[in-house]
Amino acid sequence: MSEAMTAARPAATAGAGAPIIELRGVSKRFSRSLDFAAKLARRLGAPVREDVVHAVDGVDLTIHKGEVVGLVGESGCGKSTLGRMVAGIMPPSAGTVLRNGQDITTLGGAEARLGKLRTQMIFQDPYASLNPRMKVTEIVGEAPLVHGLVRRAGLDAYVDAQLRRAGLDPAFKRRYPHQFSGGQRQRIGIARALAVQPDFLVCDEAVAALDVSIQAQILNLFMQLRRELDLTYLFISHDLGVVEHLSDRVVIMYLGRVVEEAPVAEIFQRANHPYTQALLAEVPRIDARKRAFAGVKGEIPSPINPPSGCHFHPRCPFAMERCRVERPALREIAPGHRSACHLNDRV
Ligand SMILES: Nc1ncnc2c1ncn2[C@@H]1O[C@H](COP(=O)(O)OP(=O)(O)OP(=O)(O)O)[C@@H](O)[C@H]1O
Ligand code: SF4
Ligand SMILES: [Mg+2]
Repeated sequence: MSEAMTAARPAATAGAGAPIIELRGVSKRFSRSLDFAAKLARRLGAPVREDVVHAVDGVDLTIHKGEVVGLVGESGCGKSTLGRMVAGIMPPSAGTVLRNGQDITTLGGAEARLGKLRTQMIFQDPYASLNPRMKVTEIVGEAPLVHGLVRRAGLDAYVDAQLRRAGLDPAFKRRYPHQFSGGQRQRIGIARALAVQPDFLVCDEAVAALDVSIQAQILNLFMQLRRELDLTYLFISHDLGVVEHLSDRVVIMYLGRVVEEAPVAEIFQRANHPYTQALLAEVPRIDARKRAFAGVKGEIPSPINPPSGCHFHPRCPFAMERCRVERPALREIAPGHRSACHLNDRV
């Protein structure tokens, strides 16, 4: 990452505010429906079972007001599913999601509508989430108008302000998404999100599709908006190097479970979980001579039939017999630092 981006990192405020989000034992299961042949086989009496994916498995997580929490893990570990449940756009199969202390699944009417607006998601591919037939001014102005956040008479000035805040020149607002670059399109997505006055942004791989120099600009914009608008972030990335520069706290997921959680400096200086240590070994900027680990070896197991005990045991160089049979609990090993590994019971 560039020096410009590092310089933009604000003073850490981890845990400073009240909880904005609390997940309690949150799980999400998806049933993979059977294809025609499997349905027929089942009807004929064959023991064909529907596959169930445990995308998220019993996650407890608290995000405090004003915090930036980085959520990291390999592809398919459940980051996006968790992000959608946090944003209230996907209900959990089990467990509770609290927003400012209130269970979001029990809210109704205007309260539920407002709650959804206050949390906005920013996605990896802004092009896919922007309507190609709408002009930028319509894309940014539609939701605030519908939800009564602005009157039609003031809409033009309101849209201009959102575009400026996202670093776009309002002179181009009558253009369509395809007339902008990837970085500019992400800025349009950010302006659209800001237009409904959120206090919490869930950014799902929001810079993954952009060139490295553009990534730094967009990450800087996120941090600038954090300061100006007092925003809270859940920043999802498969890349620890990206979250290092902007997160106060990092949460590491493996096959649907949180395996480690700590303030960002603690993760980089004293990673506890063997999976986190292996992920760190893959961050290119870390000096190869200082690496205690050789990266994450082996294939990611299937979440349909995850390994027993500690999900990481088939890939872990420290695996013991106990790891194959017993799920390690996520336990505090230092203030604010939690890890789920049986090795911590030895000391
Ligand atoms: N709507 C769905 N129906 C069925 N399975 C799903 C659905 N959404 C996600 N999954 C499965 O749940 C698991 C977790 O998916 P998810 O997209 O949350 O992972 P991720 O960590 O965001 O991955 P990536 O880094 O590739 O974006 C995967 O095995 C995925 O195939
Ligand atoms: S519990 Fe066992 S398998 Fe899992 S990370 Fe710790 S040592 Fe490795
Ligand atoms: Mg994802």
